[in-house]
Amino acid sequence: MPTLVPPSERHRASFLDAVREAQQTGSGLGDTLTFDIPELERDFPAFLAHLRRFEPPAVPPEGFVNSESLWLVEGDTYLGRVSIRHTLNARLREFGGHIGYEIRPGQRRRGYATLALRLALERARELGLTRVLVTCDVDNAGSRRVIEKGCGVLEGEFTVPDYERVIRRYWIELA
Ligand SMILES: CC(C)(COP(=O)(O)OP(=O)(O)OC[C@H]1O[C@@H](n2cnc3c(N)ncnc32)[C@H](O)[C@@H]1OP(=O)(O)O)[C@@H](O)C(=O)NCCC(=O)NCCS
Repeated sequence: MPTLVPPSERHRASFLDAVREAQQTGSGLGDTLTFDIPELERDFPAFLAHLRRFEPPAVPPEGFVNSESLWLVEGDTYLGRVSIRHTLNARLREFGGHIGYEIRPGQRRRGYATLALRLALERARELGLTRVLVTCDVDNAGSRRVIEKGCGVLEGEFTVPDYERVIRRYWIELA
């Protein structure tokens, strides 16, 4: 059964394969598509530290909030990742929300995003969150379905500054 774990060296090779896969297919979250693979290979510990830079007790710079990255893995295989923002700021309240996720292209349509969101919601509950915001592009049919299966209640469809697509905001009650 896949689990969410902190990013670590154990999944380095599989993670790098997943980044190559995403970049070759052009399908993934924005940062995945722009990761510099030779640089990640050169200094993976620095990348791991970068992923963990906003975890408490770190005090994030202006405009950022405490957050954590977790990887969905099974054994040594990296399947995908989630980001959990511990609080919202004005921008995240509009767009981004508390939880973001991505499944590597070769492992999609197997229920992993549904599982990743469920596990991320368990983690959010542990963090003391009672209500979680999740957003997606209106035309991201997979993500919409994942959120709706995760009991997301639609707040509405919105446009936000500096983003060209219409987005949907959903709230998930954890209490
Ligand atoms: C969106 C994404 C996370 C879905 O991951 P996934 O592991 O394929 O999702 P699941 O297998 O859990 O599928 C959940 C549901 O969505 C449906 N679904 C998944 N991808 C779909 C697609 N492209 N079009 C239509 N439905 C889709 C599945 O059929 C399933 O529905 P069902 O349970 O009724 O059969 C994945 O495509 C991805 O990582 N995309 C790039 C990053 C991204 O968009 N992240 C979300 C940002 S908001």
